[in-house]
Amino acid sequence: VKEKTLAMIKPDGVGGNYVDIIKKIILDSGFFITQEMQLQLNEDAVKSFYAEHSSKSFFLDLVKYMTSGSVLIMVLEKENAIADWRALIGPTDANKAKVTHPKSIRAICGFNSERNCVHGSDSPQSAVREISFFFEKSSSDNSTVIK
Ligand code: CMP
Repeated sequence: VKEKTLAMIKPDGVGGNYVDIIKKIILDSGFFITQEMQLQLNEDAVKSFYAEHSSKSFFLDLVKYMTSGSVLIMVLEKENAIADWRALIGPTDANKAKVTHPKSIRAICGFNSERNCVHGSDSPQSAVREISFFFEKSSSDNSTVIK
């Protein structure tokens, strides 16, 4: 079944000039990039996007990291896009990825369990939620996402 998933290149990926190499990997892997936008997230947007992690010890660090520079948001489309994009990015902890999944995107451009360079929706439910978070809001709501 054709699926859509949300992919994000995080501030360390955009700032570290990894956008072109990541996009090449995406296209070479058979995904279509159907929507994309680069933007600077504000604290409220990150807190709302990552609401499920709000009680975690790393939450405030995550907010700081995710507001430290601009991100590139993309909607990726292909058969089995959700699981295939998760497989392509590799484990959350980039240090682990370098050992167990050396060809994964997080192994290539991530730094540790927080600064892991890219994000991918983890289920069909989160894909719908995350795509609409960035792309299907009324224009008046965009002020919550753009600094
Ligand atoms: P992501 O897959 O986008 O989803 C939640 C993010 O929280 C994750 O990538 C990391 O950036 C961050 N994160 C997850 N686990 C940890 C951790 N143990 N320590 C610090 N940051 C983490």
